[in-house]
Amino acid sequence: MSYLLHIDATLLNAESLSRQVARTFLDAWGGPIVHRDLAVSPVPHLSAAGLTARLTDPSTYSPEVVAARGIQDELIDEFLGAGGYLFTVPLYNYGLPSVFKAWIDQVAVVGRTIAMSEGAPAQGRPALVVSSRGGAYMEGAPHHGRDHLVPHLHTMLGLELGLDLHVLTPSFGLAPVVPLMADLVPMFEASIAEAHDQARRLGRSFAFRPGNAA
Ligand SMILES: Cc1cc2nc3c(=O)[nH]c(=O)nc-3n(C[C@H](O)[C@H](O)[C@H](O)COP(=O)(O)O)c2cc1C
Repeated sequence: MSYLLHIDATLLNAESLSRQVARTFLDAWGGPIVHRDLAVSPVPHLSAAGLTARLTDPSTYSPEVVAARGIQDELIDEFLGAGGYLFTVPLYNYGLPSVFKAWIDQVAVVGRTIAMSEGAPAQGRPALVVSSRGGAYMEGAPHHGRDHLVPHLHTMLGLELGLDLHVLTPSFGLAPVVPLMADLVPMFEASIAEAHDQARRLGRSFAFRPGNAA
């Protein structure tokens, strides 16, 4: 039976807003999960040995290349075995948490998870990204255009890995803790409430149910 692959990339634990919204989704969804917490168990950065494993004949592998290939195989098998995906990926310095970038670099392999021509192996599988952020970057916001995470994930998870991506971006997450942002607390409260509502709705309607994975 297939499962939902749930990957956390936030450093925080229970106090993480992204994890809280993800919990709402999971409670509404209710199926089997494989969970990987990159804050607790980060995957290694792609190494020269890992790159060699992609480009050379296995009969020539050194022990170092065999080990690097093993890491990629484990992560790719786990990715391809899923029928749907849930990622918590908060905005750090206008981009991806480095632990999530390291996971992408291990998993995104042409010919294995990325199609040579058309149709990635995971094409069309549903995925939810929950990306909390301290500020706000929607159209009309003063810092609109500085969120480089959402465009990056649309390209990597959506276009390259083929996932049918839903993205929730609860915003103004720092308003309750930064005195200068106190005026924004009502906007934070509205944004997080909306993210929970959307997560609940998506959890109930997620296109993947165990048993109907490709
Ligand atoms: C290392 C680091 C960098 C951050 N950079 C940004 C940023 O560029 N823009 C922003 O709006 N918030 C930034 N924040 C705030 C987080 O995005 C915000 O606290 C968010 O709620 C974290 O997600 P989480 O609650 O799921 O852990 C940063 C936080 C950390 C720890």
